[in-house]
This record gives sequence, C-alpha cells and structure tokens, in this order.
Amino acid sequence: MEVLSVASEVYPLIKTGGLADVAGALPGSLTSHGVTMRTLVPGYPSVMAKLSGGRVVKELGDLFGVPGKLIAARVEGLDVIVIDAPALYDRPGNPYVSPDGWDWPDNWKRFAALGWVAAELGMGMVDGYHPQVVHCHDWQAGLAPAYIKYGPASHVKTVMTIHNLAFKGFFGSEIFSQLRLPPHAFGVGGVEYYGGISYLKSGMECADYVTTVSPNYADEIRTPEFGMGLEGLLNGRADTVTGILNGIDTDAWDPATDKALAKTFTANTMQGRAANKRAVAEKFELDGTDGPLFCVISRLTDQKGMDLLLQAVGGLVDLGGRLVVLGSGEGYLEDGFRHMTARHPGKVAISNGYDEALSHLMQGGCDAIIIPSRFEPCGLTQLYGLRYGCVPVVSRIGGLADTVIDANPAAIAAEVATGIVFDPNSAHAVYEAIRKAVRLYSDDKLWKKIQRRGMKSDVSWETSAARYADLYASITGLKSNDDP
Ligand code: ADP
Ligand code: GLC
Repeated sequence: MEVLSVASEVYPLIKTGGLADVAGALPGSLTSHGVTMRTLVPGYPSVMAKLSGGRVVKELGDLFGVPGKLIAARVEGLDVIVIDAPALYDRPGNPYVSPDGWDWPDNWKRFAALGWVAAELGMGMVDGYHPQVVHCHDWQAGLAPAYIKYGPASHVKTVMTIHNLAFKGFFGSEIFSQLRLPPHAFGVGGVEYYGGISYLKSGMECADYVTTVSPNYADEIRTPEFGMGLEGLLNGRADTVTGILNGIDTDAWDPATDKALAKTFTANTMQGRAANKRAVAEKFELDGTDGPLFCVISRLTDQKGMDLLLQAVGGLVDLGGRLVVLGSGEGYLEDGFRHMTARHPGKVAISNGYDEALSHLMQGGCDAIIIPSRFEPCGLTQLYGLRYGCVPVVSRIGGLADTVIDANPAAIAAEVATGIVFDPNSAHAVYEAIRKAVRLYSDDKLWKKIQRRGMKSDVSWETSAARYADLYASITGLKSNDDP
C-alpha cells in the first residue's frame, strides 16, 4: 500500500508544533504494517537546506502563476517529495508567518499549491507513482480532497486528519476564481464556508474519511462547545469520522539514549534524573533544586490555558515549587511570565524561544509538566513527560484525558495512576492540581511509583499505526473491512 502524506511541516525538516512530530513519526511506524508513506512538503529554506541527492520528478511550469518542480528524496529516514517553488516558499520566518509575526498575505496560494500538487500526485501526475491514499493533515492540506473530488475520475482515496479545529484556513470568496475548481465546488458540499472558503472544512467535507488525533477529541468536536461551527458537518458524517490517538517517536524520545540529557536514565535508574534537574536549574538560573520543579513547554496561547496558569504561579511558589517555562506566543502571556520571573527571581524563569534540545532536557530533569489546556486535540508533551518521568499535570480534556490517569485514591490503590488530571478552565483548578502534585511529591515512594508507571506506559505508535493501516485498507477495499 502506497500512501502520500501531505503536511505543511514534518520533523526533523521543519517544525512549529505537534503536527510536525506526528507527520515525521507516522511513516516509520507504518512500514511494519505494509504501508509505504511518502510525505509531500513545501520547500521552505530549512527543508531545501537538508535536501541532498534528490531527483527532479516533475517540472511544474505553472504552479498558480509561478514555476516550480517536485524533488523526490530520502532525508533523515523519510521519503519526501518537496515542492521547490521559491516564489511561494523561499522566505524567512516560519511556514505561516513573516519574521514580524504576520500571516503571509498569499497563504491561500501557498497552501492551495500544496493541496493541488497532492491531488495531482494522487491522480497520477508522476509516471510510476500511484498512491492509493492521499492523507492530508490540517487546513494547509485541506484543498487536496476537493481537487480530487472535483477532478477527473480516479480511484485514489482521501483521509483528512484534524490536528486542530481552531485553525480553519479561512479566506474570502474572492480567491475562488483562482483556485482552479469548477464553479459548483463553491457550495455547502464543497469549499464554501459562511460565505468564504475554509480549506479545513473543504477537506472535512470532501475526504473519504475524517480522523482526528484522539478518541475523546473526536467525541468533543461533535458538540457545539468544541465543534467550532463544524459539529453539524461532523455529525452528518459520523460513520466516517474517528479518533486515532497520536503516539510518539520512541527512538527520538528515549531517556536511555537521549544526547540532549546531562545524564541518561531508565525507569530503573531514575536517580539519573537529578543531574538533569541540576542542569535545568543552572540553565534557568534557579536558586536551587530542592522541592518540586514544574515546567511548561508550549505555545503560549489561550488554547493552552496559559492565562490560567499565570494566575496560579504565585501559589505554586508559596507551596515551595519552582517553575521553568519554554515557549513563545501571545505577547501578553510572554509579558506575564516575564513579570512572574521578576517577581520570583530564582524560582520562576522563562526561556522565550524555540529549543528542541532544551525541551528534552526539561522533560528529563523537571518533576512535573503542567498542561492546563482549554482544548487539546491530542497533546504530545504529556506523552514525552510520561516517557521521561516528568509527571503530567493536565486538564481533563481532549487527548490529555485519554492518556493520563489521575492519581485519585482509587487509581493510587489500584496502582494505575500516571499523573494529575483536573477540570479545565479555572485558575483555581490549576492551583489545586499543583497543590496535589506538591503533596504527592512529598511522598517520595509514591511519587517515584507514579513516575515509573508513566515511563512504562505505552506511548508508542504501535497500536495507532495499526489503526491507520486498517483504515487505509478498508477505504481502498484492498483488505476486507476491519472496522477502523
Ligand atoms: P501543539 O501542536 O498544539 O503546539 P503538542 O503538544 O501536540 O501541541 O506539540 C507541541 C510540540 O512542540 C512538542 O513536540 C513540544 O515539545 C514542542 N514545543 C512547543 N514549544 C516548544 C519550544 N518553545 N521549544 C521546543 N519545543 C517546543
Ligand atoms: C495540534 C494539536 C495538538 C496535537 C498536535 C498533533 O497542534 O493542538 O493537541 O497533539 O496537533 O496532532
């Protein structure tokens, strides 16, 4: 089975968030299930810089008015097809915004091109390459299913995976005439959304199957509270929507071998974590390592509930805790954490950038990671936390609720607790969860049990890769219908 994965980011070539981790790890985990996955990705500067030895498989004379070419290559263990179109992708900043933080004004074109190329590849544009499934991730790839649905008859099937319903890829209807879709595609059954065009909705409407990244989020988004206006669509096709939990790359994230750690460790040699805690404390210029050290590794946004955490920081310090934050995002939240750093020197600190290696060290050295999200399709940092003995303190929402077992008395007695799970949306609940963590931490034996259990829990792709493989098989009819 050949599947073309279409993603606007893929680790380790380009990453701004969890989508890249998933797009980067899924192909390798599918190999043992008989699925060969190639990834189509735009040729941003960081992607082009890593390409070597690729070959041009197609010249594109007119890619929405600019020239481009497709380069197939094997890079960092991934089979990729890169859209080399400098006029669209050779820009500074991240994939979506300019260095000063504004969306590129031609994002509609940059990601229409991604969707269009994906569809053409699915429909046989390159001799000898005939994927049976085009698997699209998030709004940036959302037009591909529409180009296939409204294109010439083809056997290729499409899967649309929602990583985050909040980002709809919404543009004004004036772009429609330039999208190369037939007039009737601008309708409720096509790309139209509240008078404009939503690339995500297009994918959700036109794909053969829709998935999201945890079973709980799949249920949540069928309600008005979390559906963000798309719950009707999802309910209308409920038998072709499912949630498949993300896994993590357990080689890239392995505390026994991780080169970013000051000291590697396993569930049986957890004393090694102390050296990492000291390294984190040094890096963030903390005034010591006694007491519980909490961390945050996150985009600093409302989705992530960072405003709620800010209100609980004073309480965290009063309880004897320390907090280190790695992240960037909305200005008022960055300012808020800076303010807390000034108020609690040596106890609270923020590193305001993006630092992959530091994120590993923090998971390996901090005692707990706080994730107070308002909504969370899956979340990966709690999975990294479990694997590294950094106990997740998470809101009971989306994939967080699917992956962490709260240390309530019953779970402690049954020896299944792996973290702390609290009700979302209130600063008080965040504070109470921190208080509970401090209390559990003071019982060294119990805390270590929780850590060890987390480290032993299965956060790999194994089960979920099998589910994706079954899904591809069932929609293509290449294998009899296992329920995906
Ligand atoms: P989302 O994709 O919504 O941002 P996830 O938890 O799924 O949330 O994934 C976030 C990914 O980005 C994780 O791999 C996390 O470690 C990483 N990450 C987030 N912020 C930073 C940062 N400032 N530096 C390094 N890694 C970060
Ligand atoms: C999104 C979601 C996050 C998820 C990630 C990967 O960015 O916000 O919850 O883990 O995609 O699927």
